[in-house]
Amino acid sequence: MSVIKKFRITKIKNAKPFISLKKISLSFKKNHLILDNINLDIAKGQVIGLLGPNGAGKSSLINIITGQIKPNFGKILINGQDISSHPIYNRTKKFKISLVPQTGGFFSDLNTEDNLNAIGEILIKDKKKRKFRIENLISKFELDAVRKVEAKFLSGGMKRRLVISMSLLGEPELLLMDEPLAALDPQTIQMLQTIIVKLQTEFNLTIIITDHQARDLLTVCDKAIILSNSKIVAEGTPNQLIQNENATKYYFGDNFKFK
Ligand SMILES: Nc1ncnc2c1ncn2[C@@H]1O[C@H](COP(=O)(O)OP(=O)(O)OP(=O)(O)O)[C@@H](O)[C@H]1O
Ligand SMILES: [Mg+2]
Repeated sequence: MSVIKKFRITKIKNAKPFISLKKISLSFKKNHLILDNINLDIAKGQVIGLLGPNGAGKSSLINIITGQIKPNFGKILINGQDISSHPIYNRTKKFKISLVPQTGGFFSDLNTEDNLNAIGEILIKDKKKRKFRIENLISKFELDAVRKVEAKFLSGGMKRRLVISMSLLGEPELLLMDEPLAALDPQTIQMLQTIIVKLQTEFNLTIIITDHQARDLLTVCDKAIILSNSKIVAEGTPNQLIQNENATKYYFGDNFKFK
């Protein structure tokens, strides 16, 4: 995995940003800034980790990109185009942004197959193409055995696999994953890590991923940032980050070991 990462980092280094966050600020209450002047450039095909303590604003930042939250200030550019005024459906269909939310993301009373159909019918007009893509995702995410099981009865890991497969139906170019590795067993985490790296290498997907499983997250990232006290306090490759004093001070603590 690290060989793939090294190769890709050199390729990505000088690329123009695919997504840029420019001076993003957010406050829900007066005088209480959640995000303060956040600037970030991400190249096409990069996997970016978003770390930070509970309440640091990770989900808020992700929801600003999807359009669910409107920032008080700042812009989001995709390939240089300002998408800030575009509604959620446009960000999904035209700009190919997809979300794996921190919780939920599926219809509890529908079975696995019907969950995929429900979103597939919106995003893929051609029936044959839709069926092909759904079957492909069912196979890739090993969901065949539970295709007729209602989502509410699936295990935590299966629910996560279902939501990730649903997020890929529209062939996104930017995938936002909010804590996809939380509360999963080691083998499921490994399976998802492999899938994330495959999405990057095979489809050149740009991925922003948040999680508190810092070690598991850094394994799949080209670069990560740490949000704390409403600012980016540290930024760099996983190896740079673990040596960064701010990263230790604001997030990892003194006893963190990467490997
Ligand atoms: N709609 C809202 N109205 C008011 N405050 C909100 C709203 N959404 C989020 N907040 C507050 O904004 C802050 C950032 O929340 P956010 O969910 O983005 O943090 P997070 O970094 O994702 O945390 P976690 O690691 O626990 O998921 C928190 O203090 C939260 O209470
Ligand atoms: Mg969150």
